[in-house]
Amino acid sequence: MDADHPEAADLAARLLSTTARESESSAIRDLLEHARRPDVISLAGGIPAPELFPLARLQEAVGQAIEKHGPAAVQYGLTSGEAATREVAARLTGVGTDPDQVVITTGSQQALDLLARVLLDPGDTVVTSDPDYLGALQALRSRKPHLEAIPLDTEGMQTEVLEERLRAGLTPKICYVVSNFHNPTGASLAPSRRRHLSDLATEFGFIVIEDDPYGELWFGDGPLEPIGPGNPLVVRLRSISKIVAPGLRVGWMSGPKWLTEAIEVAKQSADLHTATFSQAVMVATISDPVWFDAHLDQVRAHYQAQRDAMVAALERHLGDRLQYRVPDGGMFLWARCSDESIDIEALMPRALEAGVAFVPGAAFAVKNPATNSLRLSYATVPPAQLDQAAERLSRVL
Ligand SMILES: Cc1ncc(COP(=O)(O)O)c(C=O)c1O
Repeated sequence: MDADHPEAADLAARLLSTTARESESSAIRDLLEHARRPDVISLAGGIPAPELFPLARLQEAVGQAIEKHGPAAVQYGLTSGEAATREVAARLTGVGTDPDQVVITTGSQQALDLLARVLLDPGDTVVTSDPDYLGALQALRSRKPHLEAIPLDTEGMQTEVLEERLRAGLTPKICYVVSNFHNPTGASLAPSRRRHLSDLATEFGFIVIEDDPYGELWFGDGPLEPIGPGNPLVVRLRSISKIVAPGLRVGWMSGPKWLTEAIEVAKQSADLHTATFSQAVMVATISDPVWFDAHLDQVRAHYQAQRDAMVAALERHLGDRLQYRVPDGGMFLWARCSDESIDIEALMPRALEAGVAFVPGAAFAVKNPATNSLRLSYATVPPAQLDQAAERLSRVL
């Protein structure tokens, strides 16, 4: 909207819905406006490294998709997704997932939005960790729920705190969890907590949304077992955004039939179906398991080297002024200033002036802003610049 238009503010106040007026724009997005300046090294973004996008393979896949499907590659399709996409998605989800339980969505972000729409009425209770992924919080908040924030440590959401609150009378409909390499904290939910959470869902009758876009990006040991394999109360969200390319906008959810049916109805009004062409290209791209395994190895090796470069740079320039757990997967390092009195958000203008950007921890807050924490992404900045960024950060702190 043209902010200078004299009537713009009046029109917005009169014509936008209450929900739209009350929705805050994402703090990350607002911040990234400044972080785009050419003199700023940005550790703020949450996007994948573009050099990992398999462009040659995608180009081949585009040709293969058209050759194989002809006009059907660009025709309207099924709301739940094409059969071939659902089969690939079920295979990537694992743990005996049936393609019939899968709905292909426009990124996993759409699954979050649709789940919020079909499960929540205003005032319903949703459990999240604190801090948590902003996109999920935005989707959930649009339904005006009561958000119950559970603290998180290096082993993920503290399910023992959740249990205490459940026994004290909390009755959530949803518990939202990023199980692997959490955005923003990088923490993965410990295996014992996964079992605990699944048992709590069964005992208290709520849905667990396991959001897992980073699961394949492990650096050390292989992937952890998902939350409650076989538990009909667990909904899993996956995505090719971080392992192939986000611009294809292909994600999916798998869950019980009563829920996927409701999701399909909601999806019809949202976008009829996820782009048929993107689905065909995605299937053609990853249909060769030898290529796909080698690609995933390359993606993991790249992010691991990036993480190592960031950790080395932070050690060199900041030493013990920052405290963090070295992430063992994903794209983010969550750091806390040793000096508890530092307010990271207040430092942002000085950081931008010094030519470095990051996301203040408070941006991800549900209830308790982590005012002396920050999220640093090592995904996209070349190692030499990571070093320079850490040096600038050290001047600001
Ligand atoms: C935790 C988490 N969930 C979901 C998404 C959405 O991903 P997409 O819609 O591209 O699949 C993101 C994106 O950054 C994320 O970090």
